[in-house]
Amino acid sequence: MTAPSSGAGGGNLGRDLAGSESTSPTGEPPTPDEVRARLRGVVDPELGDDIVELGMVRRVEVGDAGDVHIEIALTIAACPLRAQIERDVRGQVATMPGVRAVELSMAQMDAEERAAVMARSRWRAREHAPDTAVPPSARVLAVGSGKGGVGKSSVTVNLAVALARRGLNVGVLDADIWGFSVPRLLGMEGAVEARAGKMVPLERQVGDGVLRVLSMGFLAGEDRAIMWRGLVLNRAVQQFLQDAHWQGIDYLMIDLPPGTGDVQMGLARLLPRTELVIVTTPPLAAQRVAARAADMARRGYLRVTGVVENMSDFTCEHGTSYPLFGSGGGARLAAELGVPLLGSIPLNPDMAAAGDAGQPVALGEGALAVVFGDLARTIAEDVAPLLEASSCTARLMERLEAAAGGARAQGADDPADALGVAR
Ligand SMILES: Nc1ncnc2c1ncn2[C@@H]1O[C@H](COP(=O)(O)OP(=O)(O)OP(=O)(O)O)[C@@H](O)[C@H]1O
Ligand SMILES: [Mg+2]
Repeated sequence: MTAPSSGAGGGNLGRDLAGSESTSPTGEPPTPDEVRARLRGVVDPELGDDIVELGMVRRVEVGDAGDVHIEIALTIAACPLRAQIERDVRGQVATMPGVRAVELSMAQMDAEERAAVMARSRWRAREHAPDTAVPPSARVLAVGSGKGGVGKSSVTVNLAVALARRGLNVGVLDADIWGFSVPRLLGMEGAVEARAGKMVPLERQVGDGVLRVLSMGFLAGEDRAIMWRGLVLNRAVQQFLQDAHWQGIDYLMIDLPPGTGDVQMGLARLLPRTELVIVTTPPLAAQRVAARAADMARRGYLRVTGVVENMSDFTCEHGTSYPLFGSGGGARLAAELGVPLLGSIPLNPDMAAAGDAGQPVALGEGALAVVFGDLARTIAEDVAPLLEASSCTARLMERLEAAAGGARAQGADDPADALGVAR
């Protein structure tokens, strides 16, 4: 349903009410400030900053009945991240207590607002993000959970395989420095070589795609890992991001170690566009811990892309399903976090056997391969599609960079002047 545009602000792109009604809000409606605080959980993955900080939230109004009206200003109207930002805003606000409906108006920034965003991201880029070797066009998905043993590594490698089967080049970074398991799960061994002073990830062809994998297991050997104990965790992950050849990858999948902690925060600093896929199992306890992990991610400004439920219903050879660990946990956590449930992976002994054999289930043709194929499709086509080179912010950044080069050549102080951007 599309309602007439409010006419507020410049270049209003219309609003819609679809999909965000809930008839029985619980509690008092939030204040506009509380809504703004919640919107800090919506991150522009290209700029690695939240939409409030980026000045994209122009207006927040809350009616007595819990109807929330939010006006979002995009850098350009045709921003390919528009659908994602809309979904994230709705997801965040619709799940707040006391909210009955969320009404969004999408507007376009004027030249001054755009200049402010670009100035801010330029400042951030200069001040914060160290250079990594991960190409700007690659989408970075870290797989985490608050708890050990829920299947993060299994999900990481199988999802990487399923994405590669779609013809994509997928980097796999095993950020579980001490407890690495990616080499074993992928049946890969060897020693990382250096080219031009940088590590070359080990490769495995999968269909038309390729996996490029880095793990401490290729540096230390399983039994020598203990010798690396003195190494600061984050430093190792930083080296994997900076001093490695990651050119040409479409996705980078990062297998996080168990727990919340350092590596997530390090990623928020090193590669702020990292997005988090949270793995949980059906029981409530796992969800609570996973919710804490998501909360950490938010505070470190990582966008949470969605939830994967692992070890869901077990189906026996007669085709009967048993929810051995309970059911619906993934969906409940997703709803609580205001993000989509990306998929549910059944409990199946084949997962463990395939892992031990170094032949991920996603390589085969069985039911589990179909599940991971669907998960990869959801990610690649819906929730985290590739950012095209022409995408809004990337394009602005490119123009800015080009102008910066030109401006420096001409001795101008500010590249925005060379761009002709109003300040
Ligand atoms: N859907 C599943 N069905 C059956 N077994 C599974 C499933 N998913 C994972 N497993 C098994 O559970 C164990 C833990 O999985 P995995 O190592 O992927 O978890 P993790 O979250 O990465 O653990 P850690 O926190 O130690 O890194 C492994 O033996 C794996 O084979
Ligand atoms: Mg693991």
